[in-house]
Amino acid sequence: MWTWLTGFEKLQQKQSVIYKALYQQLESAIQQGALRAGDKLPPQRQLAQHLNIALATVTRVYKMAEQQGLINAKVGKGSFVSICPVLPQAIRAQDYQCINLSIIKPQVALAETFLAEQLKALSEQQPLTDLMDYNPDGGSLTDQQTARDWLSQRNVDIEGRGISICSGAQHGLMVLINSLSGYGDHIAVEKYCYPGIITLANQSGRKLVGIEMDQQGMLPKSLEQACKKHSIKMLVVVASHQNPTTAVMSKARRKAIAAIVKKYSIWMVDDDVYGFLSADLPAISNFAPQQSFYLNSLSKSMFPGLRIGYIVCPTSFKQRIDDEIRNSIWMPVPLTLALATRLIHSGQSLKIQQLQSQLATQRQKLASQLLAGCDYLAQPNSYHLWLKLPHPWSSEQFSHELKRQGVLVTSADYFCAQYQQQTAAVRISVMATQTEQELSYALKRIRRLVFAGPNDS
Ligand SMILES: Cc1ncc(COP(=O)(O)O)c(C=O)c1O
Repeated sequence: MWTWLTGFEKLQQKQSVIYKALYQQLESAIQQGALRAGDKLPPQRQLAQHLNIALATVTRVYKMAEQQGLINAKVGKGSFVSICPVLPQAIRAQDYQCINLSIIKPQVALAETFLAEQLKALSEQQPLTDLMDYNPDGGSLTDQQTARDWLSQRNVDIEGRGISICSGAQHGLMVLINSLSGYGDHIAVEKYCYPGIITLANQSGRKLVGIEMDQQGMLPKSLEQACKKHSIKMLVVVASHQNPTTAVMSKARRKAIAAIVKKYSIWMVDDDVYGFLSADLPAISNFAPQQSFYLNSLSKSMFPGLRIGYIVCPTSFKQRIDDEIRNSIWMPVPLTLALATRLIHSGQSLKIQQLQSQLATQRQKLASQLLAGCDYLAQPNSYHLWLKLPHPWSSEQFSHELKRQGVLVTSADYFCAQYQQQTAAVRISVMATQTEQELSYALKRIRRLVFAGPNDS
């Protein structure tokens, strides 16, 4: 019950203001794992007696920690360390009770006939034994060539670089975190970032540092400050259609971020899963090739069930990355890899990507009509939007009330890289519903709720 207080006396000598010392102790115990998600904290009176300090000091510290989201108090039960957000809480793959706008995905039905055609052709391919066996490390020569063909239509430099095939971008992120950083290292990310990176960092004992953002995403000045303050090992950045804010970096901003990456010798992961939606912009990794790892997957441009992703890296890293892929999954599933190859070679993948992008544009137009007067961020063809909520809504309250009304969205607290005071906002996926009617119904409910406010709903 008291082990997390080890070293408190020493800290108290350095930091004479007791409440600050105790808060720091609690914060670092949580960050370093001495206190874990769900752990119960000692009752305030007992802690005050144990440390021989005033009860009011403990009360103040618990309150601060609660405001920062470090702990939560349950009436009659006590205070508990907050549960770290995990993907299934933030994003639901399926929800048969609600209209589910919590997941960013393409419209899978658009690709169905193409998949049926390729499945049939694949079943007639002889011999099938290659698809049933263990594959060579890094995929076959055909798979490698297909990856190059696919990536060459993106604005990313692949000449003279290694390409590894992973099982989707979430797996790619895991592989890159394991390959490029160690336990306890700091990873810089956008202040509001993709929840999958938060779970990976929590699981692997990496510390996330949230970088301030503006309309174009990560701010170079804030990244530089973080590099000076912490010893940042790597940066994970989403330069196009950032998740959750939809921010797109200009070419100048990409160059400025890459310049800091080079100046402070950190690794950069360029998570470009939405890059095809801003195809005219160069990949940010092009501006710091020696330190960059470009990551892409077919999940958003085609359909997520393929679970195929690509990592472009300096050649000296290729073996390390292939080893990490083998360590984690042995190899991407040969059957789906073969399907991806067929879809790419037939040109159908480009067709699917085009159809998805057109649909996203159509859906954003609908959103702009139905959310008139609401304050939100989006690009004309993004798959999602970031809706800011007027006072006095909180993100949690809003998403709970909306869920009660049958619509699922994702609350801003799931995107916070660090415990921080969050803006009241929710992320809404416009592509997730199969029909436009469902989306219209949900968006109308959302708008009504925004303007009704928490007290009238
Ligand atoms: C920014 C970002 N990176 C990675 C992923 C994971 O994608 P995949 O389905 O390829 O694992 C997502 C999924 O939503 C994402 O938004």
